[in-house]
Amino acid sequence: MKTTSEDQPPIVVRVACPEDDILYGDDIYRIVNTAYRTNAGWTHESHLLADDRISRAEVKSVLEDTTNPVFLAFTPTSSTTLPQKVIGTLQIDSLEHYPDYGHYAGPTHPSYTFDYSTADSVPRSEQIMLGLISVDPTLQSRGIGGKLVKAGLKYAKEVMGRKQAVVYVVFQRTELREWYQRIGFIDYGEKRPYPVLESTKQEDVHFNVLRLDL
Ligand SMILES: CC(C)(COP(=O)(O)OP(=O)(O)OC[C@H]1O[C@@H](n2cnc3c(N)ncnc32)[C@H](O)[C@@H]1OP(=O)(O)O)[C@@H](O)C(=O)NCCC(=O)NCCS
Repeated sequence: MKTTSEDQPPIVVRVACPEDDILYGDDIYRIVNTAYRTNAGWTHESHLLADDRISRAEVKSVLEDTTNPVFLAFTPTSSTTLPQKVIGTLQIDSLEHYPDYGHYAGPTHPSYTFDYSTADSVPRSEQIMLGLISVDPTLQSRGIGGKLVKAGLKYAKEVMGRKQAVVYVVFQRTELREWYQRIGFIDYGEKRPYPVLESTKQEDVHFNVLRLDL
């Protein structure tokens, strides 16, 4: 029988809590690392960056972090012990606590200049940074990633009172930059260095910074 979107179980997105680690921590660990650091999904960084994206201990710690809330996407299951199955993640970092990676200077853009004073024309305490955005690769391209981002942006604006969202996208990932641009993010030409060069697999891995006024 043909499956239609009406037949699909509803996706629920909610803010995570520390107790989620016991029920869902192992799945979150698997989903994040499979999405980011294998080639299973439509966009990933396995060709650009080595090692896992997150350790199991870091999963526990981000679920306990109330300053930088995590969002989880779930779909119902038929299991009697686990009412839901986790299928996606997103973290919202308060930008004032985020490290400053400094200014970019790399070989691919030798004449690159950027007026970094414009970058924080909205105070950092009014910005949030999207991170840890992942969807189970077997369930990508069904709108789940977009739903997570929209839920996070709404929370940042309405609950945290933030004025601007920022995302750092590895420069080489054109398809991912285009995805954020379709959501409404703007690339003003700002670049930032990648902080852990030992993990990079290609020359000149660095970030393009995209911004969205909330
Ligand atoms: C980025 C990510 C979260 C998106 O999740 P998703 O559930 O696939 O997202 P959506 O279904 O909402 O959107 C997918 C879009 O990509 C498009 N797409 C699918 N395959 C594509 C491809 N091969 N090339 C370009 N676009 C493609 C879809 O058509 C859809 O388009 P739309 O934006 O017009 O709707 C997911 O791919 C992921 O986990 N990636 C690995 C982790 C990562 O890189 N995170 C971001 C770090 S900044």
